[in-house]
Amino acid sequence: MSKRVFSGIQPTGSIHVGNYLGAIRNWVQLQDEYECLFCMVDYHAITVNYDPDGLEQRVLDATATNIAAGLDPDKAIIFLQSLVPEHTELTWLLTCITSIGALERMTQFKDKAARQQQIFAGLMNYPILMAADILLYKAEFVPVGDDQLQHLELARELARRFNGTFEDYFPEPKPLLTSGARIMGLNDPTAKMSKSIEGSYIALAEEDDSIRQKIRRAVTDPGPQGGEMGPGVRNLFTLLEGFADESIVEQFRRDYADQKLRYSDLKSVLADAIVEGLTPIREKRAELLAKPEDLKEILYDGSKKARKIAKVTMEEVRDIMGFRLPIK
Ligand code: TYM
Repeated sequence: MSKRVFSGIQPTGSIHVGNYLGAIRNWVQLQDEYECLFCMVDYHAITVNYDPDGLEQRVLDATATNIAAGLDPDKAIIFLQSLVPEHTELTWLLTCITSIGALERMTQFKDKAARQQQIFAGLMNYPILMAADILLYKAEFVPVGDDQLQHLELARELARRFNGTFEDYFPEPKPLLTSGARIMGLNDPTAKMSKSIEGSYIALAEEDDSIRQKIRRAVTDPGPQGGEMGPGVRNLFTLLEGFADESIVEQFRRDYADQKLRYSDLKSVLADAIVEGLTPIREKRAELLAKPEDLKEILYDGSKKARKIAKVTMEEVRDIMGFRLPIK
């Protein structure tokens, strides 16, 4: 059996080119080689304030966007977290072997908590749910952007602790990173591109004019060219590598080194390349969203397949942890 890959994405806000270059594009390639599960993690999306009435639409949007970007339900299991209740069951069991200190040290928790008036336990326990997502399928590889590495390290630690405390059972999941593992915000290249920061991202569904405008306004560096690149220009180069041919990237790199680069030229070529890359995704997404019943069918079908695997894991885990009365 081929090795198993698991990854997830939150159905919140707009899926953007950071998600695409850091994760989704890698998923598209992996689905040809591995047994892949890709999860719309709606339980993760409720750890901060959210609108319950819009949740279903956001799930369908995330599903459509991922499929438009190349995920294929005939190759990978594409499913919805809340349709597989074993995720929450394993979360509780893992919660009982997780130290609070490890959760409090999570950078993302600290960042997000600083923006909340009231901090709920779900926000702190979020990485345990993520560990459960991965371990439930005994996934060996987890393709993510680098902002998820600390969470993944916890999943590895929980696998080790479970194996050490009870019996050797879970493989330690390993990260798979891309060269676009950390795309920075266009308006502030010192912070990562994020769905929750307007102006920082280009959505996969962004209209052409808006893409061009955002790239035009992207922060570059005031400093001299030729030496160490500043974060703004470096980020534009990373985006160019993601969307343009290597020869074009090389030419601009040479111009930069020779102090001949005009940022307006770089931006105009980059904007064209992104428009060219995203137009088919935007169009396909719209087509898919016009048939919400088909998207739901994909999620139900994927969730059924995922649950089949998850149920076996849970039965074994319950037994290993001493819950010996079977559920009837
Ligand atoms: P989420 O929804 O924030 O992001 C989905 C994926 O996109 C990557 N990403 C980025 N990559 C490069 N540059 C960026 N600026 C950027 N922003 C986001 C993320 O690293 C991620 O791979 N907790 C996860 C979802 C999750 C998950 C899991 C992932 C839940 N369970 C199990 C892997 C395995 C999250 O919020 O991703």
